[in-house]
Amino acid sequence: MKNVLMKLPVVLLPWYESNKRELPWRMDREPYHVWLSEIMLQQTRVEAVKGYYTRFLSALPTVSDLANADDDRLHKLWEGLGYYSRVRNLKKAAITIMEQYSGVFPAQYQAVRSLPGIGDYTAGAICSICFDMPTPAVDGNVLRVIARVTADETPVDLPAYKKDVSAALAEVYPSAAGDFTQALMELGATVCIPNGKPLCDACPCLDFCKAKAMGIAQELPIRLPKKGRREENKTVLILSCDGRYALVKRPEKGLLAGLWQFPELPGTLELDDVLQAASGMNMAVRDVYRQADKKHVFTHIEWKMRGFYLEVAQENENFTWLTREQIENDAALPTAFRQFCEI
Ligand code: ADE
Repeated sequence: MKNVLMKLPVVLLPWYESNKRELPWRMDREPYHVWLSEIMLQQTRVEAVKGYYTRFLSALPTVSDLANADDDRLHKLWEGLGYYSRVRNLKKAAITIMEQYSGVFPAQYQAVRSLPGIGDYTAGAICSICFDMPTPAVDGNVLRVIARVTADETPVDLPAYKKDVSAALAEVYPSAAGDFTQALMELGATVCIPNGKPLCDACPCLDFCKAKAMGIAQELPIRLPKKGRREENKTVLILSCDGRYALVKRPEKGLLAGLWQFPELPGTLELDDVLQAASGMNMAVRDVYRQADKKHVFTHIEWKMRGFYLEVAQENENFTWLTREQIENDAALPTAFRQFCEI
């Protein structure tokens, strides 16, 4: 592997200089900025992250602001990005930075790696991008690039493969470590792309890429067979009463912890069952507007949801009743439920 990897810095650094995208988090190397962007980018596309990143930093310009931010406000700033534990860990880490490092982001790999929510990838990215340390940041993009240039058919999702790639890359890191980290990611994101034909004609590694030479670039990387998702069926009640809507807060632990949702009942119910359940909850239904089936896919679970839009006679005290505007501006309603807002 090393013979091929040694060739990467010399071709990737000039290629990156001429081809890198202008992205908001590439304007400086401030650790708070790089950290935030890497956390947002972990499960989310670049285009989707841009707006969130800028809004988040306008609202909370410093680590101290983040450490002191109210949880509901953080959830609102994160609304729609998914994987909300990321923002809760950001706050925990910000508190640690304030308490243990006097508010200064630590510049040692082990200290960075020990912060909540920061794993090998993020620690590598921060330390290389901010401090030019030879610490690789190996994500799916980088694994794909390396599997292809070396024509390696090892399944990339084996943890041992990631370790091997990381160790081999560390040995060839140039002094411009931050640019090299980003060049590898950029090549994976824009040229050596997944799901379809890589753009080999535009690739600076064309001359030495083993997968290209063997004609198997599109077949790599190899992945382990996917585990299936558990399916959950639920019925979602969009209850309105004179322009206000019923919401409930989710439990403080588990999936989408502490966020808001419309009330739900287990299973996929028919209208008759829903009306019966409503009367059991002492709610007089005045009108049934419509119903809509939606789904939402998480990593391990898929929700199949049937929504019923019901006008009720009175605000039931088991719920929090908010206007559309309040739902829009104040309550963090995850995408799974926000789908039902197109009323
Ligand atoms: N994906 C993960 N980190 C990234 C970065 N710094 N720039 C662009 N895409 C990325």
